[in-house]
Amino acid sequence: MHYRSRCVGIGLVLAVIGGAVATPAVRGQGSSGPQGRIFDVNNESGLARTINVGGFPVVATGNAFFRDLGVNGRRCVTCHEPAANMTVTPESLRARFEITRGTDPIFRTNDGSNSPLADTSTFRARRDAYSMLLTKGVIRVGMSVPATANVEFELLTVEDPYGYAGHNTNGNELSLFRRPLPATNLNFLSAVMWDGRETLRKGSSSAIHFDLADQSNSATQGHAQRPSPIDEETRDQIVAYELGLFTAQIVDRSAGDLRVAGAQGGPEILSDRTFTFGDNDPLGCDPTATTCTGSNPNFDPVVFTEYSAWSRFRTDGRDAARAAVVRGEDLFNTLAIPIVAVSGINDDFGGPGRFNVPIVGTCTTCHDTPHAGDHSVPAPLDIGIAEPPVPVGQGGDGVHNRFGLPVGDMPIYTFRNRATGEIKIVTDPGRAMITGRWKDIGRFKGPILRGLTGRAPYFHNGAAATLRDVVNFYDGRFALGLSEQQKADLVAFLRSL
Ligand code: HEC
Ligand code: HEC
Repeated sequence: MHYRSRCVGIGLVLAVIGGAVATPAVRGQGSSGPQGRIFDVNNESGLARTINVGGFPVVATGNAFFRDLGVNGRRCVTCHEPAANMTVTPESLRARFEITRGTDPIFRTNDGSNSPLADTSTFRARRDAYSMLLTKGVIRVGMSVPATANVEFELLTVEDPYGYAGHNTNGNELSLFRRPLPATNLNFLSAVMWDGRETLRKGSSSAIHFDLADQSNSATQGHAQRPSPIDEETRDQIVAYELGLFTAQIVDRSAGDLRVAGAQGGPEILSDRTFTFGDNDPLGCDPTATTCTGSNPNFDPVVFTEYSAWSRFRTDGRDAARAAVVRGEDLFNTLAIPIVAVSGINDDFGGPGRFNVPIVGTCTTCHDTPHAGDHSVPAPLDIGIAEPPVPVGQGGDGVHNRFGLPVGDMPIYTFRNRATGEIKIVTDPGRAMITGRWKDIGRFKGPILRGLTGRAPYFHNGAAATLRDVVNFYDGRFALGLSEQQKADLVAFLRSL
């Protein structure tokens, strides 16, 4: 059987506003195949596919993931759309904003607006109130600095352009603007959420199942403001749907079908891969990352082999494009990267006083899970994404941080170490808000690197607008000196994932 369905987000929008508006262009198509149900969506470089191998359609309107379980109209699909590789994009949000004049359920003040106190009384006011969502696709995660006695730091100052964070009646919560992580390919996860706060149990698939079930309730009570917890059955239903999902690019406009001539792209092959917790971790950690030896003699930097078969291609046209993808794959697996001043690596594994001494690794030192590219154990790292803008008085433009990322629209938090008096300034303290530990300030997990095209912008704060910007960030951050060709090759590879 073959059916067509409109993109879910827009489908919901139309349900809200009735038939008053012209039907927007179809942005997704469902059908079924040997490995379950299929949902294909066009994107800037070709075609992405999401499949569900768990017995659900990808657009499973009967599943709790798609149902209204809260009180503000939001559903999981409000922020995790099949047409955006199970997240949302600023582009799709702007379309929803225009069609509903800023009343689609994602536009709610609890965590959609720049501040919960923002004026949302008029269409014009809403455009300002939701500017972070509309430009970077980020949700305002509100969290208070942990209040337990052993918290190693205190909040000194807050500069919030939206006048809310740090000084408010809601436990002085901070505003942490973060991208919705894609709710797909979750079988490869070792840590749940950017800061791992839903990683309650670790190191096994039953642990991830438990974590995701808990997460489904937190999301319903948080984002959708449901006062009471959802029952076990509803949680299990959501998790069963989510764990059936796999997403990857299947067609690249230049390289063509990513599953032919020996290539192994696409979600079908991905869904046949197994993930073992702790597998291939370069730091020699056990699956829960409780104890680490610091090295793993069996670490294989060749994490992706999806396009290895294309190494025979050299010539013009399509073959040249395929050659670029496999050169990018080789760079990702083997290019030497002097990893320096990364909290979570250089401090924990470099030895005392050696934070600024490079440890030579690869992209795959941090993105080590075979075929998925996240970390195979919970490993929060600070690569500098949360660094604040360099002020005008210090040679900067007040917008970009040291590594060239535009973060001028983010709040800036200054923390002091209670024991040493040391200062750290960040736009988001990340993992430290969960553990209260000084060294965790600015640490975030590395996400799964499949289905990247069609879900820009990247990094936890959406600071990299394109994959090219991601590559430029790494080039500058680790002084790689990449040539234009190498950058283009890396991008060609990343967009084929
Ligand atoms: C208002 C938007 C919004 C809604 C609604 C929402 N989420 Fe999310 N989701 C997010 C954001 C933002 C994050 C990342 C937050 C963080 O890490 O701090 C996230 C993260 C996740 C993750 C973590 C993935 C990973 O790689 O760690 C899962 C799974 C998830 N959401 C599932 C759900 C489910 C299930 C529901 C419905 C019960 C839901 N979400 C509703 C915005 C939303
Ligand atoms: C030192 C560890 C480390 C190295 C080396 C590293 N990454 Fe990352 N990567 C991370 C972390 C951590 C994040 C998430 C950072 C954040 O958002 O705060 C990330 C995020 C990303 C993302 C964004 C994913 C998303 O969904 O937003 C891409 C793409 C990426 N890395 C590609 C690469 C490439 C390409 C290389 C090699 C040139 C590389 N990484 C090297 C740790 C690393």
